[in-house]
Amino acid sequence: MKIELQCESLAKLALPAITVYCFENDPVSSGTAGLLPEETRALLADLRESGELKGKAYERTLIHRPAGVAAAKLLVVGAGKKEKFKPFNLGRLAGAAARFLRARGVHQMAWAAGDETGAEQIQVIVEGIILADYDADNYRTERNGDIRIDLLVLAGKNLAVTDELKAAAERGRAIGEAANFTRGLVNEPSNWMTPAILADRAREMATRMGLEYQELGVDEIRSLKMGAFMAVAQGSDEPPRLLVLRYLPEDAPESPVIGLVGKGITFDSGGISIKPSQDMHEMKTDMAGGATMLGVMQAIALIKPKIRVIAVVPAAENMPSGKAYRPGDVITSMSGKTIEVLNTDAEGRLALADSLTYARQLGCNVLIDAATLTGAVTVALGNITTGVFGSDQEWVNRMVASGTQTGERMWQLPVDDDYREFYKSSIGDLANTGGRYGGAITAAMFVGEFAEDTPWVHLDIAGTRWSNEEKPYLAKGPTGVPVRTLVHLLTHLAG
Ligand code: BES
Ligand code: MN
Ligand code: ZN
Repeated sequence: MKIELQCESLAKLALPAITVYCFENDPVSSGTAGLLPEETRALLADLRESGELKGKAYERTLIHRPAGVAAAKLLVVGAGKKEKFKPFNLGRLAGAAARFLRARGVHQMAWAAGDETGAEQIQVIVEGIILADYDADNYRTERNGDIRIDLLVLAGKNLAVTDELKAAAERGRAIGEAANFTRGLVNEPSNWMTPAILADRAREMATRMGLEYQELGVDEIRSLKMGAFMAVAQGSDEPPRLLVLRYLPEDAPESPVIGLVGKGITFDSGGISIKPSQDMHEMKTDMAGGATMLGVMQAIALIKPKIRVIAVVPAAENMPSGKAYRPGDVITSMSGKTIEVLNTDAEGRLALADSLTYARQLGCNVLIDAATLTGAVTVALGNITTGVFGSDQEWVNRMVASGTQTGERMWQLPVDDDYREFYKSSIGDLANTGGRYGGAITAAMFVGEFAEDTPWVHLDIAGTRWSNEEKPYLAKGPTGVPVRTLVHLLTHLAG
């Protein structure tokens, strides 16, 4: 997609389509609809009169050969009630416009930039359109990919085309494409996304982006004594990998070193505690946390914030077999803590446990993990909101605040010593399940045990990684959550 910034009045843009938005209260002259010439607004007034144009959220009205402007088509997107409008909604509106136009054979669009359009808005608009222009359809012979947006023009009469705004557009592109990279990985079926393939994709990305890349195989994982991660991996014929990507700019402060740990289970059958077959295919997405961290690394490699970040992704497949770990097994984690396996389907926390220990050993002094960890988090928050847990309230607050900015909703759930009873073992130090109630909390806390005294934040994305419905601004399938929030957090930490 080519992106251009133009200091030009809307009326003069001779493109296949120009797009504006308006609010519900005043659909004729609010939002960027107000930037249209008199004659064109008269058209909108007629549409409003007839009840066709209401300005409701994501309502889309396409006008052919609109009077008063040079463009062939005018798209008006409803923004809903002005009181409810948040900064991230701008990206969703732009995305909704892009998806609508694409579906109608329009590949070149202008988005109206009002006088108040600054760097943040430019970034949000571009991000929204890049996200919207993605479909998880690489296995279809007739691809939506053929109908993508080729040209995006951000135009306004008073738009100052500065380096600052151009950089903002490129940032929007970097973040949008990083989220789409993650979505592409999450969407891959497990026969095309083994631990070795995930490693190949990570290496290829790291090389392209100039990131340091390291990959540990079975022998190294064993010699590090990662007994918890190895237990999960041992049932599969696909050997595990531990991926390590480093972004350590020399001009960044020596501390903090942020460790991004992402669950990379390329297929979760449940193992010997096998899952029901009903929705088992969805477990191809169980590497979404790992894919998230790879997307974040891609984005920061381009944006170059002054902060040190190391990503650690344990990639393995959880399978039943004659070599598989069993319920009742006691395993020794890299930390030395022993774990009684009560359920082989609670594998994510085992892979994360050793990865957190390893990240600390690599020098990370803040730990952030993302994982499709529990069905229980979806019971609590649905697929709209990511569950946030943590040992350090300041870092949790930063995470939730970043989510509020990007529109990737986050909600804190408690971590409290009283829950530790739930995952006590009668034979070892810890048990890998905490029973039916408070399942997202006990899973999170189990992981947190391995952060020890290092500030730690955990994101349970089991619900938010995927959307079964198409949204006006997003294809159905992998969502890319929480890539944008983590990039926001890291870039804002760096100032
Ligand atoms: N990967 C699953 C969690 C999951 C469920 C992710 C649905 C996405 C959608 C995880 O490994 C798992 O199986 N968790 C168990 C834990 C239980 C055995 C304590 C669960 O949530 O049922
Ligand atoms: Mn599982
Ligand atoms: Zn899992």
